[in-house]
Amino acid sequence: MSILVLGGSRRKASLNGKLKHRIAEVADKFGIRYKLLDADALDAPIYHGDFEDAEGVPASMQALAKDIHAASKVVLISPEYNSSVSPLVKNAIDWVSRLENQPWQNKKVLLGAASPGGLGGIRGLMHLRDILGNVQAWTAPNFALCPKASDASIAQMDETFLKNFLLQGD
Ligand SMILES: Cc1cc2nc3c(=O)[nH]c(=O)nc-3n(C[C@H](O)[C@H](O)[C@H](O)COP(=O)(O)O)c2cc1C
Repeated sequence: MSILVLGGSRRKASLNGKLKHRIAEVADKFGIRYKLLDADALDAPIYHGDFEDAEGVPASMQALAKDIHAASKVVLISPEYNSSVSPLVKNAIDWVSRLENQPWQNKKVLLGAASPGGLGGIRGLMHLRDILGNVQAWTAPNFALCPKASDASIAQMDETFLKNFLLQGD
């Protein structure tokens, strides 16, 4: 089984996308197997019960659920918006939680964030941790945070720290 690595921003120049790739680079270096998802994997309409009644859970969210089921752990790198969770990520959690045998249950989830701000998105991750606890995921204690994020600061993140981040829950 390999780790599923996904990001919570679909922006082309996403800092969180860059952190996601940095983590994948470290996984490569240390021989840690992973599957990297494009942020477009979180493409889904905003959750709406009428939509669900009419059309069921979107195919994109069913595919995501399959990937989560198949993974040993999920690494989720998500931006912070107004001190909380990315709506894209929250929406994906909600859709996936609607499926039978919802895959968050007992799943190990490792969280990270990058932000131009000084706190690195930690407040968003604390909310994300609460939400994931409510869908019965296990969240790892250490976050991969990049405050004052830029191409340079993401590239300079310590690889031993990121390796140990990835090994949480083993
Ligand atoms: C609506 C909005 C709210 C934001 N709120 C926060 C915040 O609370 N904390 C923070 O560190 N950055 C905040 N930011 C800045 C984001 O961290 C920044 O735009 C970041 O680059 C977004 O992630 P991305 O680069 O992966 O798309 C906010 C940005 C937007 C658009």
